Amino acid sequence: EKYNVAVVGATGAVGREMVSILEERDFPFANLRLLATERSAGTVMTCKGEEYVVEVTTPDSFEDIDIALFSAGSGASKKLAPEAVKRGAVVVDNSSAYRMDDEVPLVVPEVNPEDIFEHTGIIANPNCSTIQMVAALKPIYDQVGIKRLVISTYQAVSGTGKDAMDELEQQSKAVLNGEEANPEIYPHQIAFNVLPHIDIFFDDGYTKEEMKMVNETQKIMNDNNIKVTATAARVPIFNGHAESINIETNDRVTVKEAKELLANTPGVRVEDDPDKLKYPLQNQVTEIDDVLVGRIREDHSIDNGLNLWVVANNLRKGAALNTIQIAEKMIEEK
Ligand code: A2P
Repeated sequence: EKYNVAVVGATGAVGREMVSILEERDFPFANLRLLATERSAGTVMTCKGEEYVVEVTTPDSFEDIDIALFSAGSGASKKLAPEAVKRGAVVVDNSSAYRMDDEVPLVVPEVNPEDIFEHTGIIANPNCSTIQMVAALKPIYDQVGIKRLVISTYQAVSGTGKDAMDELEQQSKAVLNGEEANPEIYPHQIAFNVLPHIDIFFDDGYTKEEMKMVNETQKIMNDNNIKVTATAARVPIFNGHAESINIETNDRVTVKEAKELLANTPGVRVEDDPDKLKYPLQNQVTEIDDVLVGRIREDHSIDNGLNLWVVANNLRKGAALNTIQIAEKMIEEK
């Protein structure tokens, strides 16, 4: 069976990856509609050897569409996803607009694939940092249970979008030329700097990005007893998110056991050999879809604890790939 597919935000950092992944994985589409705004309407993109002209997104863009992949920001999703659903499409949404809605499944296919089938028109793709974390945690959770997570993230600018990638490039050149870096997308200079600030601040001092990791993790793992605390930082890297994860487990798990569990998990690759200076690196994941896990150590400060360093391609496993894997699972079971 073939499906009519639309990509909303096709010209964006994530949208472009979606289009290449549809081709790479030979997604069974009959027609493909690439959608954005008037800013990039008319742009020609190719997929599976065919050329497609990007169109302006309107409610009628979704006539005859079976599956609509959205990555155009929360505003566009809030306005247009219901229009797509009204016309009979299933929306897989990469924005944060619907993630915490009770009737919207929030899915990482390696973790909670069964939730896909509970949808009422919209399925949400989690936040990029949450996806790579829960993919690595799932086998440990299943084996020994998880009480508490303490996370620090080191997130690339591609998570903000293509304008932020341009800003990092321009500022890096400016600074090296002894010129001033003019912040536009970020509130401060991002080149040669680290910003402990992603998304908006709440009254208690946490950022929305940090709270996404708390709330989305509990929803995906279907366990509101997991305690989570996070600090999210933006680093001057184009693509690839890293995170330090400290896990307090219910029962003890040794480094050897943890390595074995992770090595046997689809979608996860263990990169952990300190003697050979082998550990996950952000510049390693441009061409890699697996979630890389390394620096696996027991936390000697508590009875049952582990430390991990986890790296993934935020545009692919953290966004476009996970979205398309959700769509694949959904049609596979039909
Ligand atoms: P456009 O290229 O026309 O601006 P990024 O996350 O890299 O900034 O990309 C955002 C993507 O979402 C782009 O493809 C952008 O299109 C698209 N987009 C932004 N707002 C809307 C909207 N209201 N409707 C449809 N597409 C949108």
